Amino acid sequence: MEHISFQVIEFGSDAFFKMMDLRDTVLYKPIGLTRSIDNFDNEKNYANIAGFYDGRLCATASLVVKESEIKMQRVAIDKNFQGKGIGSAMLKYCEKYAEGHNVDTIYCHARSEAYAFYLKNGYSFEGDEFDEAGITHRMMKKNLRVNYES
Ligand SMILES: CC(C)(COP(=O)(O)OP(=O)(O)OC[C@H]1O[C@@H](n2cnc3c(N)ncnc32)[C@H](O)[C@@H]1OP(=O)(O)O)[C@@H](O)C(=O)NCCC(=O)NCCS
Repeated sequence: MEHISFQVIEFGSDAFFKMMDLRDTVLYKPIGLTRSIDNFDNEKNYANIAGFYDGRLCATASLVVKESEIKMQRVAIDKNFQGKGIGSAMLKYCEKYAEGHNVDTIYCHARSEAYAFYLKNGYSFEGDEFDEAGITHRMMKKNLRVNYES
């Protein structure tokens, strides 16, 4: 995936609205939600990440910086680009961003169908399953200070 590049996009930019469209298509519409669940005032405070493949926005995640951890949310890859390693590359970019903010852990509320994806990327389950927006989720976490090689 040498043509993929990631960046933090600016609130209100063209890329920001393309990113919102991607969230809608991949995350919200399939479960009967709309983008109105996103609070624009909050979006201004998040680091919204976008992945571009030959200039086309095809991946997104949103990072919420907390005191000693970062919450990663709204993780979505364009259907035509899924299964090609772009989601995993985006997680690495998000983890680097987190390390740059000197936090110990990164976590997300994973949808049940994405558990295998996060497990493959070194995330572990934390706590029990719960319902969010009508679908089953579980918190998954990665300790950024652990050296998995050793
Ligand atoms: C889940 C998602 C983010 C994964 O991104 P991706 O680019 O498709 O994933 P990758 O190609 O990096 O996959 C990495 C590994 O995870 C596995 N994987 C990815 N998606 C999976 C899924 N839905 N179920 C089971 N395994 C999955 C792949 O098999 C792959 O392992 P492999 O390399 O050994 O084959 C993406 O498919 C997506 O946007 N899905 C729909 C929305 C969604 O569920 N978002 C997550 C909300 S928490």
